[in-house]
Amino acid sequence: MIKVLFVCLGNICRSPTADGVFRSIVESNGLSSSILVDSAGTAAYHVGNPPDPRSVAAAKKRGYDLSALRARQALEADFAEFDYILAMDSENLANLKALMPDEYSGHLGLFLDFAQGQELEVPDPYYGGDRGFEHVLDLVEAASEGLLNQIQRKL
Ligand code: 4NP
Repeated sequence: MIKVLFVCLGNICRSPTADGVFRSIVESNGLSSSILVDSAGTAAYHVGNPPDPRSVAAAKKRGYDLSALRARQALEADFAEFDYILAMDSENLANLKALMPDEYSGHLGLFLDFAQGQELEVPDPYYGGDRGFEHVLDLVEAASEGLLNQIQRKL
């Protein structure tokens, strides 16, 4: 079993989107029993909350269901569990590096390292308009394909 954790700040916009999109791609490739998907936030503000309704609506238009997800905070214990811990931006990554035990042997990095595009970070859509949520989906879909290709080579 390969375990993948997506991490943003609040775990209500970007990482739940990545969780829902990647989970859907894993399911449609028949790999649900080989790849476990989860998400978390570096901050605790929204713990227990469902994803932002704007993220849920934008994802639903593309056929992804985020409604069952609930926010939780990323923990040091996640490093004992997850093979891939993928941050949405460099601030999330810096916060995760501060939490990472020295002996972690998995992959901690930026999610968009798995996409072919110019952008390195998934921008926080929380304070912007609907276009930000569409942009998050575009970036997440591209990186999800790249990530699945890499993991499939290891299965
Ligand atoms: P996320 O977006 O990190 O993509 O879930 C945010 C959600 C909430 C806040 C910031 C970013 N906030 O400040 O409450």
